[in-house]
Amino acid sequence: MKIAILPGDGIGTEIMAEAVRVLEALDLPGMELQDGLVGAAAWRVHGHPLPPETLALMHECDAILFGAVGDPECDALPRHLRPEQAVLGMRKELGLFANLRPAKVFPGLEDRSSLRAEVAGAIDLMIVRELNGDVYFGDKGMRTTAIGEREGYDIMSYSESEVRRIAHVAFRTARGRRGQLCSVDKANVLETSQLWREVMIEVAADYPDVTLDHMYVDNAAMQLVREPGRFDTIVTGNLFGDILSDQASMCVGSIGLLASASLGTQQTASGTKGAYEPIHGSAPDIAGKGLANPVAMILSAAMMLRHSFALETEALRIETAVADALNAGALGGDLGGNMGTRAIGDAVLAALG
Ligand code: NAD
Ligand code: IPM
Ligand code: MN
Repeated sequence: MKIAILPGDGIGTEIMAEAVRVLEALDLPGMELQDGLVGAAAWRVHGHPLPPETLALMHECDAILFGAVGDPECDALPRHLRPEQAVLGMRKELGLFANLRPAKVFPGLEDRSSLRAEVAGAIDLMIVRELNGDVYFGDKGMRTTAIGEREGYDIMSYSESEVRRIAHVAFRTARGRRGQLCSVDKANVLETSQLWREVMIEVAADYPDVTLDHMYVDNAAMQLVREPGRFDTIVTGNLFGDILSDQASMCVGSIGLLASASLGTQQTASGTKGAYEPIHGSAPDIAGKGLANPVAMILSAAMMLRHSFALETEALRIETAVADALNAGALGGDLGGNMGTRAIGDAVLAALG
């Protein structure tokens, strides 16, 4: 169980400390944590957000715990040197194409949602986001038009094999849940989405026990706040999944609550190699103040135990401790409480017993 610990930037270091305390409290035999630098933290030391030594560590280990990257000081750097390239590079280099982002309301926190409590109370959904393609990884650049204007461009594309492999992950995920898969696209406008929809329908033939429907992304954004309880499993592309998952987080109550797993095809001794990270970023506005909610990071560690190490009991132990701590009032400013990062970590540790 070799785990790379990559806190990154901003609140990444603060929330990672709490996740590591929780993992260490479980006292798992064979667990070996190895620290590495990513993002602006790596750029400052090595001149690159994803230096070769960190990439080597990523390749060597069975799983990666990833905090967050991003620093306003780096926003003017050439794109290939910006901190965000570390997370994109990791996903691409390791072939982590399937991003699972569960969103479920916590008992007792229904009234912390941006939605009415009775609407929020029904939320139990999973966003399966494609992570290696789309407009993120197409040809991009700046050019000058015929009349001398600057023009930015980013090519959006999906090949059918890229859509097929995420479709299989999504259908299997839905099969393990309530058997309902909603594919979100923009097929009324985009050829990329037209192919996406066709391939989803083709793959559906292998999963007669799963119900597939389709929704345009604008409608999906609306339905997500109108009646989020209608969704079981959502499958969508890289860009739409990025946006809808941040939106889903506020339906649950805070972006500081949502964890994620990024998986590929590489296997560990007992599961799938993966990277585990909160869906949020480095939160420069609250960084260094001890105010960040560490729950998303702690729940990411639970997802790691489940997917990379087949430690379902231990994963559930963490998830139950988090739910208990939240229910008992371990809330930070993001949820209307006044507890800091360390105090929330303490509450989770206490609930772990
Ligand atoms: P963000 O997710 O960092 O923050 C958005 C808002 O949510 C902020 O007000 C922040 O304070 C709050 N927030 C986020 N996480 C929180 C937590 N755990 N507890 C309490 N409040 C929390 O998004 P942003 O401000 O758009 O981006 C900041 C930087 O992070 C940028 O450089 C961006 O590129 C980067 N980013 C990185 C990742 C990643 O590493 N996976 C993800 C998203 C954004
Ligand atoms: C996320 C983030 C990243 C993304 C950024 C930092 C590249 O927003 O993980 O949701 O867009 O995928
Ligand atoms: Mn995002």
